[in-house]
Amino acid sequence: MHPDPTRDDIAALVAARTPIVVLETEDEADAVELVLRAASRPPGGRAGRPVFRWSVTDGLRRMDVDLGGAQLHNADPPALLRSIVDGVAPAVYVLLDLHPWFDDPVVVRLLKDAALRPMGLRSTLVLVSHALTLPPEVEHLAVRVPVSFPTPAERALIVDRTVAAWGNVTGLHPHVDPQARELLVQRLAGLSRSDVGRLAHGAIVDDGALTVRDVPVVERARFDALAADGVLSYEYATVAPADVVGLDRVVRWLLLRRPAMDGSAPHLDAPRGVLLLGVQGCGKSLAARAAASILGVPLLRLDLAGVHDKYVGESERRLRDALAAADALAPCVLWVDEIEKAVASSDSDGGSARRVLGTLLTWLADRGSRVFVAATANDISALPPELVRKGRFDELFFVDLPDEEARSGLLRLHAARRGLTLRDDETAHLVAASDGFSGAEVEQAVVAATYAAHAYGRALDAGTVLEELRATRPLAVVMSERVMALRAWAATRTVPAR
Ligand SMILES: Nc1ncnc2c1ncn2[C@@H]1O[C@H](COP(=O)(O)OP(=O)(O)OP(=O)(O)O)[C@@H](O)[C@H]1O
Ligand SMILES: [Mg+2]
Repeated sequence: MHPDPTRDDIAALVAARTPIVVLETEDEADAVELVLRAASRPPGGRAGRPVFRWSVTDGLRRMDVDLGGAQLHNADPPALLRSIVDGVAPAVYVLLDLHPWFDDPVVVRLLKDAALRPMGLRSTLVLVSHALTLPPEVEHLAVRVPVSFPTPAERALIVDRTVAAWGNVTGLHPHVDPQARELLVQRLAGLSRSDVGRLAHGAIVDDGALTVRDVPVVERARFDALAADGVLSYEYATVAPADVVGLDRVVRWLLLRRPAMDGSAPHLDAPRGVLLLGVQGCGKSLAARAAASILGVPLLRLDLAGVHDKYVGESERRLRDALAAADALAPCVLWVDEIEKAVASSDSDGGSARRVLGTLLTWLADRGSRVFVAATANDISALPPELVRKGRFDELFFVDLPDEEARSGLLRLHAARRGLTLRDDETAHLVAASDGFSGAEVEQAVVAATYAAHAYGRALDAGTVLEELRATRPLAVVMSERVMALRAWAATRTVPAR
């Protein structure tokens, strides 16, 4: 049997007669199965306990042996808890979705009674829910067990079992391509046990074989499973290094770290990440996305602003879940755009931003996984100082307005994308006319010129781009004081991005 930290934790807690255990998981079937295994057949030859499962629709049912129908019909939570608290025989009760009753003072009192019974409860209540915030008077009496993702060996076992089960049921011999099996086991990382089983099943039933053709299908399904939350998502479109103009130092810095991320030199220390600070529209988000293709790993996006929730504790839980999923998906780039927006405290958020920042900082400092964080920020006044302190990121880069050389590259790139190849003399003119423009503004002028050219019924040319540049007052001019302040701040704290 493979070691399973979650199962061993639960077994130990049951053996120690812990009254209340909380299992937070999206995967109820998985959790019930886990508790059943841990409690009825505990490791180390300890005696098993009866295991019951309760839900409001099914009532109470014995799980480890089949006793037919429900043992407590129509049990509402107060009646159920009373019978457990009064019970004498030690057992394990898996309670599914009890949280809607946490508003009921009787339920809260009974939970407290269970935890504080003078002689000890002898039984264990395992509360299973996708999101569980205990009433404060009970929280400190409960033990939370994080549900771990299955290890590669466990995933391999699940895949093999699923294939064998399909063979048994159909009487056919499934064809398994060893390389496809290997890839599948790898790609199923970060999913719960029952999702691994479900996707492996899907891969085998379609054609009775596991082949490389199944890999993209499984990959796609995994993306969907992970993106379901909305906080963490897979980004398909990664930006190529050639799409990023004028941030050469960042690109070189990333290239040096590629072997430590793409698996070619696993003995190298895992880089932690970069924070890209700077002027609006100069390619921070672009470079963060490009980090994934430069490092040769997939790109995940964390929507940090999306974790905020009005319930106390809920935002941190969502963030912890998303970070755990990212850890399980390593190696990868975790892109956190405009990081300061979600962690800047305001008086009105009830401390939520503070706690989210705390959760993030702890993870940034402690994680051992190959998750490379590519974060961007443009409002330094909102940036908490803890975030830029040494040790959180490997480097802070300052992305300034493009200089002449960079503007020349930007003009050529964005014109070429729209079918216009600029001559050197034309480029020189446009470079001179775009002093103070950001990359986004240069691109915008080219785009505007395509509209104008279309309206006049002619091809895009340098003259039209020039007119558009002259008609624009760049943000750097409109907000020159802000840009100056940003540069002054960055001068002592950051490294230039080019
Ligand atoms: N250095 C650059 N190289 C190529 N294109 C650029 C560059 N900078 C900006 N652009 C163009 O402008 C667009 C906007 O840039 P991006 O979103 O990366 O800027 P940002 O620095 O993240 O700005 P913000 O602070 O507003 O988020 C890009 O998608 C790209 O098309
Ligand atoms: Mg951006």
